[in-house]
Amino acid sequence: MGNDRIVLLSKREIAKMREAGKLAAQLLDHLAPMVKPGISTLELNDEAERWTQAHGAISAPLGYHGFPKSICTSINEVICHGIPSVTEILKDGDIINIDVTPILDGYYGDTSRTFFVGEPSPLAKQLVEVTAECLQRGIEAVQPGGRVGDIGAAIQEHAEAHGFSVVRDFVGHGVNRVFHTAPQIPHYGTRGKGKKLRPGMVFTIEPMINEGTWEAQVQADGWTALTKDRKLSAQFEHTIAILETGVEILTRPADD
Ligand code: MF3
Ligand code: CO
Ligand code: CO
Repeated sequence: MGNDRIVLLSKREIAKMREAGKLAAQLLDHLAPMVKPGISTLELNDEAERWTQAHGAISAPLGYHGFPKSICTSINEVICHGIPSVTEILKDGDIINIDVTPILDGYYGDTSRTFFVGEPSPLAKQLVEVTAECLQRGIEAVQPGGRVGDIGAAIQEHAEAHGFSVVRDFVGHGVNRVFHTAPQIPHYGTRGKGKKLRPGMVFTIEPMINEGTWEAQVQADGWTALTKDRKLSAQFEHTIAILETGVEILTRPADD
């Protein structure tokens, strides 16, 4: 994976990515009203799978390196890659990240949001708001001719200014007809460092921001990544394209 070349997509390929990204955003919009106390993460998974198929797409996570379900559902202290389960029931005060990646006509749209289940605690609310702002600031740091390090620096500054930490073990990634490819996009770093940002590059920015330590532990299932201190973690993800003129968010919801 580290030897992958950075691929620059043509206008035609970016148009295909735009369709996949739009579908991914619509899938999250569709799942959002189901996020209520009492629902299981398996019910969210199964509706996502049904909706994806009904829209002529394929769920990329299902079977990816052996991942057993169609979406990732990551609750509270789960950083990412939570596996939907019939025994995992949402309860009032939880935060849950839902990460979806439909494949439409061969192209991948990768996006996630963190949702509140009922009423969040003030701390959970602040963490989730700051994490959404981190993604926004990361996107605003992208410009043709800039560097990958500009993105992580913007995110890290904002998270740490609020006393939160940035997960190191998972990064954003190039995405096209391949789920995870070059470049890697760390959510921490130094301005002016790293690979040059060029028109035609398409990648995700997906900061995972923790209440406490940034350190992660992967569970025995080989997937579920938890905060080492079991404090809260939140995440938002968009797939973006660099155009000659600037940046386009391919997974932006229609009403945003
Ligand atoms: N969608 C995740 C990402 O943002 C990857 C999930 S891989 C899976 O990169 F196998 F866990 F589904
Ligand atoms: Co991703
Ligand atoms: Co994702």
